[in-house]
Amino acid sequence: MQLGTETQAQSAQRMYDSRAADYEDSWHPASAIRFTSRLSISPGDAVLDLCCGTGLNFFAAAGRVGPGGSVVGVDLSEGMLGVARRKQAAAAAAAADPELESRCLLLKGDVTRLDEVFASAGLGDKRGGFDWITCSNASWVESSESFVGLATAAGLELESFELLEKVMGEASTYYGLDQADEVFDKIANGSLTTNLDVNEFKKTARPLFREEWANAAVDGKVEVADALYMYIFRNNRGKLSE
Ligand SMILES: C[S@@+](CC[C@H](N)C(=O)[O-])C[C@H]1O[C@@H](n2cnc3c(N)ncnc32)[C@H](O)[C@@H]1O
Repeated sequence: MQLGTETQAQSAQRMYDSRAADYEDSWHPASAIRFTSRLSISPGDAVLDLCCGTGLNFFAAAGRVGPGGSVVGVDLSEGMLGVARRKQAAAAAAAADPELESRCLLLKGDVTRLDEVFASAGLGDKRGGFDWITCSNASWVESSESFVGLATAAGLELESFELLEKVMGEASTYYGLDQADEVFDKIANGSLTTNLDVNEFKKTARPLFREEWANAAVDGKVEVADALYMYIFRNNRGKLSE
């Protein structure tokens, strides 16, 4: 999704740099536990965590792969990576896990340009050598099926699909047809638009939102689900998950 002249990468950087300090005062840590508990990451595995943020999945994976494994995390927000690096240093200083530093690598970069990220870290040959590629990120998809369509077109085979419900502990909320503007304003004035002049965006997006809101209504109510899609895909070298 692009806001104004910003690219997706610029939008993510703007939003997550400003959220980094209190990102974990949220439902994300609990969600990361649910996400990683579904993955059969084993000792010795090599894991690539895309959009690793403050490292919630990254450090969970690092604990699971153990001393013989490795975890590489990639994110473009310096703020989020800064939190992850501080956690890594604190774990090393506390000697809670003396091997942690040597098997964990945090890289700054855009996951849509992974070749460049790996090349600039001098790891061009490592690309593709992972048992797991994890990515938990907020993405906009048309439906659960549409994402499967994208992945299968890229040569991946769906292994499992799960709907993780009550992610934020709220369950679904049902809104009336007349609440389109209220919900739009909540979204448009939230973290999505931090530090951005949104007047033009609102002018263009509001009528589109109202139209989609009306289309989504069933018996005059629109359901906003508190849920995440979780997919595990397999390729012929190993497993990829989101
Ligand atoms: C919702 S947070 C998720 C962080 C972490 N995976 C978790 O589960 O807590 C989304 C993260 O994706 C990162 N991100 C978004 N787009 C990105 C891109 N194109 N390249 C690298 N990181 C990106 C953001 O900086 C942010 O840290």
